[in-house]
This record gives sequence, structure tokens and C-alpha cells, in this order.
Amino acid sequence: MSLVRPLFVVAGIGNGTGTGAATARLFAKSGYRVALISRGPEYLDKLAAEINQAGGEAAAFPLQNYTTASIKSAFASLKSRWPSSPLRVAVFNAGYGVWKPFLDITEDEVRESIDTNILAAFAFAREALLEFTKLELETANEGGVAGNARKRGTLIFTGATASIRGNVLTSAFSASKFGIRALSQSLAKEFAKKNIHVAHSIIDGTIITERTKSQRNNPSWEADQDVRLDPDSIAKSYLHLVEQDSSAWTWEIDLRPAHEKW
Ligand SMILES: *[C@@H]1O[C@H](CO)[C@@H](O)[C@H](O)[C@H]1NC(C)=O
Ligand SMILES: *[C@@H]1O[C@H](CO)[C@@H](O)[C@H](O)[C@H]1NC(C)=O
Repeated sequence: MSLVRPLFVVAGIGNGTGTGAATARLFAKSGYRVALISRGPEYLDKLAAEINQAGGEAAAFPLQNYTTASIKSAFASLKSRWPSSPLRVAVFNAGYGVWKPFLDITEDEVRESIDTNILAAFAFAREALLEFTKLELETANEGGVAGNARKRGTLIFTGATASIRGNVLTSAFSASKFGIRALSQSLAKEFAKKNIHVAHSIIDGTIITERTKSQRNNPSWEADQDVRLDPDSIAKSYLHLVEQDSSAWTWEIDLRPAHEKW
């Protein structure tokens, strides 16, 4: 049994109030070292400090952009920060959303959508899978983390309703979110025989974050857990995916609040 704590990496923290941050907090509490990759260094440093103060172990790896070179260099930095920690969990939560009528969408927006939602996902997946394929299967209670799921690692992609359904304002967003889903399904099949678990999560509904709270400005919406997704609840489902053992694991999960129409 290894005494070294395993490593968790997440890309896409936004303002530190959504899925990426909630997932980082929960995995830190569950015993993982946590590497935070995102644009926006101030939010990253704040979240890392918060996790460290709460008794976890986190470090920030800020990026200027989600180019392949930047992602590669963030992985190089986190490996040199924690050379003996096996990377066991990687969550790709970065995204670029554009909701506009098709005729108003610019070439730059299409490109940004493809760059962040597809190309960056390829680069992130490549770095994570290069690490996972070097590892032995995890051992029971590796580094104090519960479970023995017989895996080399788990790679989770955050998707959206737009990953499976186009709509009137989602041409650019949905086209790239479909792309990420196709990537995750292909990787799930290619790497399953190596006991690497790849999963795709469809978030169907509005997540409560600082941004959506200020957009809606509606206290009764905020208070009603049946109508919006709580990032902490999403994080619990991500931990569940990671803890699933190799005899029954999920490729795709969908999460929506109880009263969501779908
Ligand atoms: C971060 O907060 C600013 C100001 O509230 C907002 O404009 C921006 O969309 C937020 N970014 C994310 C990723 O939530
Ligand atoms: C991405 O960021 C790096 C620095 O981190 C910079 O050198 C590079 O020019 C940027 N690329 C683009 C396309 O913005």
C-alpha cells in the first residue's frame, strides 16, 4: 500500500463558485492532493488558499489560455510539484459558452468555442492519459483514499444539455459540446481495457454560481434546491464516478434538478 496521497487535477475553475471548485474541495476532503488549472489567477490562488486552510493540499497552476502548449506546461509543473503522487483523477471542466442566433455568431466565437471546448479537451485528455497509462492499478486505500476500484485512473468531462441537443441559440456551443462527448466516448472505449475509466457528465439545468445568482437576482430560485443544480451535489456525483469499481462503471451520467423540464 502506497502512503503517498494520489493527485486530482481539474481544469476550469471560473470564479471559484461552480462545479470545478466544488469538485476540488470535495476531492481535497477525500484525501487527494489537488491541482487547480484555470485562467484567472486571483480566483485560483483564493481557492488554493481556502483548501489549504481547511486542511487539504492544493496548488494553483494558472494559464493564460487553453492552448495545447499551455496545458502541457501546466501538467509539467504539477508533476514537478508532486513528483511521487500518482495522478488518479482528471476533470475537464473548462468551457466556452456562446448563446446567440446563428447569423450573429462571428468566426472568432466559433473558433474560441472549438479551441476551448474541443482542442483543449484533447490536450488535457492526452496529458492525463499519458500519466494514467504509466501507473499500476490503484491499491486498496492508496495514500489513505477510500476504496479499491481496480483502475489506473478516471477522466471526467463536464458536458451540458447542448452536448446532446442543439437549440435555437446554441449552434457554436452545441457543435463543440457534441465534439467533447464524441471524444469522451471514443476514449472510454479505447482506454477501458487498460482499466482507465472515462466518463461524460451532462449537466442539464442551471448551476447556482455567483454568476448565475447575479444574472437571475431571484432569492426564491436560489433557495429552492429543486429548480437549480448545486455545485456541491454535482461534485458528489463526480466522486461517485471515481469510486465506481471496474465491475460496474458509467460512461455517461446526466444530472438535473428535480423540477427541471426535459
Ligand atoms: C466571473 O465573474 C464576473 C463578474 O461577476 C462575470 O462577469 C464572469 O462571467 C464570471 N466568470 C465565470 C466563469 O463565472
Ligand atoms: C498562450 O499563452 C502563452 C503564455 O502562457 C503565450 O506565450 C501564447 O502566445 C498564448 N497563445 C495564444 C494563442 O494566445
